[in-house]
Parts: sequence; structure tokens; C-alpha cells
Amino acid sequence: MGMKKLIDALAQGSSLTEKQWEELIAGQTEELAEYAAEKARSIREKIYGKTVFTRGLIEFTNYCKNDCLYCGIRRSNSNAERYRLSEEEILDCCKQGYELGFRTFVLQGGEDGYFTDDRITDIIKKIKAKYPDCALTLSIGEKEKESYQRFFNAGADRYLLRHETADEAHYNTLHPEELSLRHRMDCLWNLKEIGYQVGCGFMVGSPGQTVGTLAKDMKFIEELQPQMVGIGPFVPHHETPFAKETAGTVKQTLYLLSLLRLLKPNLLLPATTALGTIDPRGREKGILAGANVVMPNLSPTTVRKKYELYDNKICTGDEAAECRNCLNNRMQSIGYVLVIDRGDPRER
Ligand code: SAM
Ligand code: FES
Repeated sequence: MGMKKLIDALAQGSSLTEKQWEELIAGQTEELAEYAAEKARSIREKIYGKTVFTRGLIEFTNYCKNDCLYCGIRRSNSNAERYRLSEEEILDCCKQGYELGFRTFVLQGGEDGYFTDDRITDIIKKIKAKYPDCALTLSIGEKEKESYQRFFNAGADRYLLRHETADEAHYNTLHPEELSLRHRMDCLWNLKEIGYQVGCGFMVGSPGQTVGTLAKDMKFIEELQPQMVGIGPFVPHHETPFAKETAGTVKQTLYLLSLLRLLKPNLLLPATTALGTIDPRGREKGILAGANVVMPNLSPTTVRKKYELYDNKICTGDEAAECRNCLNNRMQSIGYVLVIDRGDPRER
């Protein structure tokens, strides 16, 4: 089958084999990427129009017990200046965010033992009591199913846990021995079973990634049927073992965004900060490739620079209001509009 035929088949809801995914990903050309992007935009606009959802990201701790080889806040990075936001500071971020029009807050952090289940549950309850019309997303790593259940019962609506790669051997080259793909996937299935809106995802161009591992990512996403998928380029961080590795590309990230939109038309698909970091118009390009979410930062500017997952991360000096305005303008410049909305998935 020709490549355009594969894209047509995908757009019509057919399931591709792993082999076909490999061909499609390996067959990327400028023309094919544009073909996929046009179809992705059109499907996206049928469901979501020209609207772009926002999530206010609160990076509340950069302490982490894990040692993922790619990540700038891994425990072995002794040069990282560690911080934690207090409950009060987190609630302040929400207040500011609410006034700016955010109706989803994302609490993201390293796996920090200080934030016990009791503490997290407490914070969730307080946020949901104050902002009952907002969705709350957690992105705090791998936990026991009981913990996920407690957070859900306390009011958390969504959970982001990128699977990072669906290929076990590849997973093991990106992570230390104590972490396993099996466990990460179990977490995702548990989250789904509990009833969360779930997001998985991966870095584009992570060291060792191939069309083969990417094809497995697509098959895994097809199987899991998450509501969200977060993908962004891998960007090296100078204090990690991957300091000298090359970053993922804008082109491949955009192509994969389009393919994801075609794979699951109503996906919540962010144009990520990492994409905006490797290209000054990366987020606009991401939206034009089929993404429909942006996740600006609500963390206090005093800690922004410290949540440095990769080098040259953008927006580390900007106030939340500046970021919201900036993104408003960016979206308007391409004919899209930021909306004040929880941003739940819509049915076709
Ligand atoms: N600790 C939680 C977890 O592991 O899911 C959430 C925080 S973790 C820092 C969030 C995501 O950042 C990871 O899933 C990973 O894909 C991404 N990330 C980490 N280092 C990166 C890098 N060097 N380049 C691009 N993305 C990176
Ligand atoms: Fe943060 Fe543009 S989005 S300054």
C-alpha cells in the first residue's frame, strides 16, 4: 500500500499493523507530512473547531527519588537546586490561574517522598473545594493502585504518566534497573480502571528510539485508548548521561502529532513546551499539525528555572499572566483561540 493510502486508511478508522506503522513512520517526507497534517487539522476542527484548551501547570516539587537517564531533575544531579512549594503556594498558583481563565490545573512533580498520600489528598481536596468547576490533573509518577484510588476519591480527575517507550529493551536503556516498563504500564491500566482520564506519551528522538520502537508506541496507544497523549522532542540536559545526545526534531514531532490525531480523533493532544523550546514557533506548528492543548506554566517565577528537565527550557522568566497573553497572541496569529473551559474530551 502507498503511504498516502495508509494515511487515508488511518483517517477512516482502520487499524494499522505494527509493520504498517513502521513503514508510515519511516516513509516520512515533507509532502507526506503535509498530507497527514491537512487531514489531522480537518478531523480536529470537526470535533474541536478552532479552540485550544489550556492547562495551568504547577511544578510543585523537583525532588525526585528516580534516576531516569534523560531527566534534568534526576536524583544523581547534585547540581540541581531542589525546592518544594508549600500548600499555600500551590493554592496561590491556582488562584492566579483561575483569575487568568484556567479551568484545569496540573500538579506535576518528581517522585518526592515528602508529599505522602495524606499530603497529596489534602491538597486535592482543598483545590477541588475552592474550584469545583475546575479539573485537576496529577502527574506525580508511579504509585500503588490504592494511592491512585485515594487521589481519585479526593477529587482528582486526570492523570498524566508518559509510558516513555513501549519497547522493553529501549525502556531499560533510558531508565535505571529499578524501573520497569511492566510496572509503568500496570500503573496506566490501574489509572484507567479507577476511572481517571489518562494520558500516556513519549519523547520524540530519545536516544535509541527507532521506527520499530515508535511503531510499538502507536500500537500501545491504540490498545490503551488514553484520553490524552503527551509527546515532545527529547532535549538533552547538560547534567545527565545523555548530555551529548542529539535532540529530537521538530519535523518528526509534528508528523507524529498528526498521526496521533488520525489514530484517535478526539485525543487531547498538547503542543508541548519542549516543542516550543527547540523551535520559536513550535507550539503554533504543533497546533497546525493537529494538537489542541497548550500547557503554560503557573509556577512562581522564583522556582521556574529550577524545574529544568532539559536545557534552555522556555518561559522560565515569565509571569503566568504573560504566558497566557503570549499564548493567546500566538494562537490568534494562526487563527485559533484559547478558551476558558475545563477541556474535557468531546465525542465526535
Ligand atoms: N515524575 C513524573 C513522571 O515521571 O511521570 C512527572 C514529571 S516527569 C519530569 C515529566 C516528563 O518529562 C517525563 O515523562 C518525560 O517524558 C519528560 N522529560 C524528562 N526529561 C526530558 C528531556 N530531557 N527532554 C524532554 N522531555 C523530558
Ligand atoms: Fe510563556 Fe510565551 S508562553 S512567554
